[in-house]
Amino acid sequence: MNQPSTPSFEEILFWLREEDPEKLQTLWDRADKVRSDCVGDTVHLRGLVEISNHCARQCAYCGIRAGNADIPRYRLTSEEVLDCANQALSFGYGTLVLQAGEDYGLSQAFISDLVRRIKSETGRAVTLSLGERSDEDLKVWREAGADRYLLRFETSNTDLFHRIHPPLGGQKTDRLAILHRIRNLGYEVGSGVMVGIPGQSYEDLARDILLFRELDLDMIGVGPFLPHPATPLGRGDAEAFPSSADQVPNTELMTYKVVALTRLVRPFCNIPSTTALASLNRESGRQLGLLRGANIVMPNLTPMRYRSLYEIYPAKACILESAESFHHALIQSIRDLGRTIGEGPGHSYNLSRR
Ligand code: 5AD
Repeated sequence: MNQPSTPSFEEILFWLREEDPEKLQTLWDRADKVRSDCVGDTVHLRGLVEISNHCARQCAYCGIRAGNADIPRYRLTSEEVLDCANQALSFGYGTLVLQAGEDYGLSQAFISDLVRRIKSETGRAVTLSLGERSDEDLKVWREAGADRYLLRFETSNTDLFHRIHPPLGGQKTDRLAILHRIRNLGYEVGSGVMVGIPGQSYEDLARDILLFRELDLDMIGVGPFLPHPATPLGRGDAEAFPSSADQVPNTELMTYKVVALTRLVRPFCNIPSTTALASLNRESGRQLGLLRGANIVMPNLTPMRYRSLYEIYPAKACILESAESFHHALIQSIRDLGRTIGEGPGHSYNLSRR
């Protein structure tokens, strides 16, 4: 399968501004065809475990930021995570995704032991999403067998990024440099952005999408920005976080456009239909994502008693639904779309092409 022709900056901008449903249908169709031609009709499922809601960071958008004193903090034990991995195994999910706030209480040794045990006891592929950890941590975890790492760059507008992502200990970070290091360590690399961050312009978003290609990403997750009332951005402080003169709306429709365009610029990439998208349209957001470019779903396996404590944004879909009942409904809805459920780890097609 050759690389289909990729849209230019102007074409991306054109589609981001398009509102006519009939014209947009041609974008959905094009993205769906590229998805089907390049990664097929299989939907891979990744079991997501939110292993800790502790966080050292003060991200202005995120509900589990260090400054939010209103939530009890938790950290799962290895045994609890292993139970989730066994549940992933019994549901046939090929991958376990371990996600947390940037929690330095999750030590290098704790994570590497955990990765080793998950791999040897359940044979699942392991994806880590633990924030901006040191090169040494990333290296040791890779050696322990971690397959993939997710770190969204959130926005390619660096001024905006630093405004919403204050430095830790006075040190500004460069997520693009971290993503390069993750790639060099041999991980499959995932990144992505939020859609409709206050201050994000259409041109910013078009540049984000082109950057997905430049970074040669294996996995790209995009979701709408959802304001959380316990955060500076959610409180709508217009002085600290002014809207752009050409502000992108944080809507469901805009998110589909970004999913579809992402598929056009990265045809062989794994793209999840995200929980944030499903949170805007519980009825059909997840399915529409899968029909407009996505090929992955990440069912939440976090034990129920911790779910409401990992509220990075409010009204998160999945807080009330058990892994079991979600699993059965999901399998049915994927079959209803005429798609098949993935078996095996579902590594990125980019790997074999690189
Ligand atoms: N709205 C939408 N997405 C959010 N994330 C964090 N907070 C929010 C929010 N309020 C996303 C970020 C982060 C990912 C784990 O969740 O993009 O990288």
